[in-house]
Parts: sequence; structure tokens; C-alpha cells
Amino acid sequence: MAMTLDVNGKPLAVKAAADTPLLWVLRDELGLTGTKYGCGISQCGACTVLADGQPIRSCAMPIEGLAGVKITTIESLGGAHPVQAAWVKHDVPQCGYCQSGQIMSAVALLDSAPKPTDADIDGAMDGHICRCGTYQRIRAAIKDAAGLAPAAPAAVVAAPAAKL
Ligand code: FES
Ligand code: FES
Repeated sequence: MAMTLDVNGKPLAVKAAADTPLLWVLRDELGLTGTKYGCGISQCGACTVLADGQPIRSCAMPIEGLAGVKITTIESLGGAHPVQAAWVKHDVPQCGYCQSGQIMSAVALLDSAPKPTDADIDGAMDGHICRCGTYQRIRAAIKDAAGLAPAAPAAVVAAPAAKL
């Protein structure tokens, strides 16, 4: 089936079958490999992209439901987006595998709630699994990108002086 998808502001013709999940079309047909395959069953968030500004799990979204929908992937951010800059500043990624999905949800959050509360952040990032445990740095980076004070780093406790 030939179909046109609106990806990152461009109409792109795709040949995949109508029931092909978007993730496979993005990566294998369109070469947009910034979006990652994690679980394939809508459980981890690694494959998150935006559809008309809302986060979706592209591993579980057949392209037949996306005619006329504006799809946005990590490639559209260009590397210098304020959220990406905050991610760099806070040295968020560890292995990096989950991070494009995390960033896309953070972008959607800040578009809808420019000054998010902790509860807003929890709600938006819920269900994004990071096996490296970068959750605290993600929270700090989101707050920084929003112009809110990130949580203070844990105090460094001086080691007691050695007894002679
Ligand atoms: S790969 Fe889509 S949610 Fe895990
Ligand atoms: S940075 Fe490794 S899974 Fe999140």
C-alpha cells in the first residue's frame, strides 16, 4: 500500500503495509533511526514520537491510523532544542537508549505545561523505563529547560579526618 505520512513537516511516501507499526517505517523505510526499539509492546517508551504534539508509542501504532497526522521525531529537534541543551547540561544520558523517547515526552510536556509541577513531570514521564536509572537527572533537566530551579545536588559530606 502506498501512503503519505507527514513526518517532521514533510510529506513522505511510504510503501509499508497498512498494519505496519510506525516505528518500523521510521527506522527501516525512512532511515530515521533516532527513535529506538525497546520492548515492542508499548511498555518502555523508547519508541516515543509525537502525533499532533502528543506522545505516542510508535511500536504499537499502525500507520493506517496516521493519515493527516503530524508526526514529529527526535530528528526534528536538531540537537540544539532547549530540552536537548538541558539534557547535555545535566549529563542525563548514560547508555542513551531510552533518551530519545524521554526527550520527546519532555518536549510535549513543556509545550503543554511550560512551568510543570513535579506531578506534571511524573505524569508525563510515567511509563518511560530507563534501565540506567537516570530519572533524577531527567527531572532536573526538565526543570532547567522550564526555567525552574533544578533540585539541589546531594550535599557532599567531607570525609572525617584520619586519626593519627
Ligand atoms: S519499544 Fe515501544 S514502548 Fe517499548
Ligand atoms: S540511559 Fe540507559 S536506558 Fe536510559
